[in-house]
Amino acid sequence: MRMIDLFAGCGGMTKGFEDEGFVPAFAVEWERRAAATYEENFGPHVVAADITEIPDSEFPAADVVVGGPPCQGFSQLGTRDPDDPRNSLWAEYARVVAHVQPSVFVLENVPQFLKSGQYGLMEDWTNNDGPLAGYELVSGVLNAADYGVPQRRKRAILIGSRVGTPSLPEATHGDQLGREPWLGLREAFAGIPFTAGPSTLPDRSRDDGIAGPFKAEELHLSRNPKEISLLRYDAVPPGGGRFDLPEELLPACWANKPTGTTDVMGRLEWDRPALTIRTEFYKPEKGRYLHPQYDVANPDDRVNRPITHWEAARIQTFPDDFKWCGTKIEIARQIGNAVPPLLARVIARHLRDTLLDA
Ligand SMILES: C[S@@+](CC[C@H](N)C(=O)[O-])C[C@H]1O[C@@H](n2cnc3c(N)ncnc32)[C@H](O)[C@@H]1O
Repeated sequence: MRMIDLFAGCGGMTKGFEDEGFVPAFAVEWERRAAATYEENFGPHVVAADITEIPDSEFPAADVVVGGPPCQGFSQLGTRDPDDPRNSLWAEYARVVAHVQPSVFVLENVPQFLKSGQYGLMEDWTNNDGPLAGYELVSGVLNAADYGVPQRRKRAILIGSRVGTPSLPEATHGDQLGREPWLGLREAFAGIPFTAGPSTLPDRSRDDGIAGPFKAEELHLSRNPKEISLLRYDAVPPGGGRFDLPEELLPACWANKPTGTTDVMGRLEWDRPALTIRTEFYKPEKGRYLHPQYDVANPDDRVNRPITHWEAARIQTFPDDFKWCGTKIEIARQIGNAVPPLLARVIARHLRDTLLDA
């Protein structure tokens, strides 16, 4: 079963589908370092170009098209106007699906997508004379933790099918009877040393000058925090955050904003999934990213640093043999932007079992 990945990033979605036996045949990703990561892992069929510049004739036949156009300013009311420039990448996605006519397509995006004009457009396009005529849609917000990912990451998933009525996969993990418990970080971080490695990536690059490829363990990158930052990290216990900072350690911006942004300077917990890993997970001031190891009674038994790229990749369920290309900042963006491969794999298996094998 052949697949195409549009807006492929490093290939988190492709990884999950490949693990389930699908064959990646083509991908588009205009950020050349993300495309390099994709290429190292899945092969040279990735085109590092703006999707709007790739003519229909270049897209090969495929059973499945996956991908999520980036959200360019969703508005709640939304514009269902196909000519609105903010909708152009959605039109591109629809163009490719209309041309390739896969049995199934899968679109991933932030939860707000389901309330946006772009979603309305996708629905309109499935009408009789629209570019997606013949496809039935199903959509919903899935929490990756409910499918065995050690991360509470909620994403809108939309599935279109022209080979039967599509459905979303059933959750397998969580509190409800009959489900397995959510996975925590203890499992996710198994074997990763508490002490991070050097603060820079090894000096290695490909023939095209792009840094890498790097192995997961080479991404165990340390940072050089200021003394005040270390004091702040040390004041935050597992599950805590900026509200645990004593007044003398509170930065003015937070002191003046007593409510909201509860997760910043947050510390993770060993036996719970992480919150959403975003593209700047290496900055504790941006979310709940401090390492979970913290002995309340023993200050020497605390890991006072944010998670490393290696740990973030594990939380996103990338295997350790995945190869990464680009700068530190760029690789973090690839990790934070990705669909967790395990979630993608669950979706791939569900499609195969319910639609594609039928
Ligand atoms: C959310 S990320 C995709 C993540 C991917 N699905 C994964 O699982 O790893 C969206 C990607 O779309 C790419 N992108 C944005 N505009 C594009 C365009 N016009 N042509 C090609 N790629 C584009 C971005 O560089 C970004 O990597």
